Amino acid sequence: MIEVSGLVKQITDGYSHKCILDKLDFHLGEQQSVAIGGDSGSGKSTLLHILAALDNADKGVVKVAGLTLNSMSETQADQFRKKHLGIVFQQFNLIDCLSVWDNITFPARLNGLSIGTYHNDLLEQLGLSSHKHKLPVNLSGGEQQRVAIARALSHQPSLVLADEPTGNLDDNNSQNVSELLFGLCKKLGLTLVVVTHSPKVAAFADTRLLLQQGRLLNTPNQTSNFVSA
Ligand SMILES: Nc1ncnc2c1ncn2[C@@H]1O[C@H](COP(=O)(O)OP(=O)(O)OP(=O)(O)O)[C@@H](O)[C@H]1O
Ligand SMILES: [Mg+2]
Repeated sequence: MIEVSGLVKQITDGYSHKCILDKLDFHLGEQQSVAIGGDSGSGKSTLLHILAALDNADKGVVKVAGLTLNSMSETQADQFRKKHLGIVFQQFNLIDCLSVWDNITFPARLNGLSIGTYHNDLLEQLGLSSHKHKLPVNLSGGEQQRVAIARALSHQPSLVLADEPTGNLDDNNSQNVSELLFGLCKKLGLTLVVVTHSPKVAAFADTRLLLQQGRLLNTPNQTSNFVSA
């Protein structure tokens, strides 16, 4: 599902280049989950943005669902995100003026998919049935993040990306949201990449990768114990 080889990302501060991702190589199979950890500034969000075709690699090849992201036009990248990606953010990023139901069904509608049993089942499995007609402002943080998970799964994407999905939640909600995110992706057969600082969240993943100053300290086959270096 994900093939990354020789990925390099540099930034220029006017005078010099700084390598923020340095020759990354990893593969992740379909229906697998991986947690990516590492210190602040190690390049985790940059990597996620590149996997989402929101940013470009300077060198190397990045393939997702058989598509080479490097060579995509803006329009192709938009289409790729709309069809193949579900994204969960730390700040939930729900649409304030839409109900829970309209937030959840939005990506499916964008893709011209029918709305029905699948979406009602999502709502139920995430414990949101009684909140269906509420606005996000009337929900707790944990509830809002569960809506964001349902929205990310709404159009049955091939890949779900989550950047610190539990970063704004307390311990109980963090465990609950992680269990639902990893559990639902496994059940639906989706590939999942979660950036997290939390070893407890990372423990839900099939494999764990650690980034340090833009370099991977291990491969998915040498699963790290996620103790930050
Ligand atoms: N647009 C940019 N311009 C300049 N530097 C950038 C830019 N984006 C990221 N960086 C730098 O690249 C490095 C990696 O940033 P990134 O946001 O990927 O880290 P991170 O691992 O997600 O950190 P955190 O855990 O704090 O979210 C950092 O040193 C950051 O300052
Ligand atoms: Mg980050």
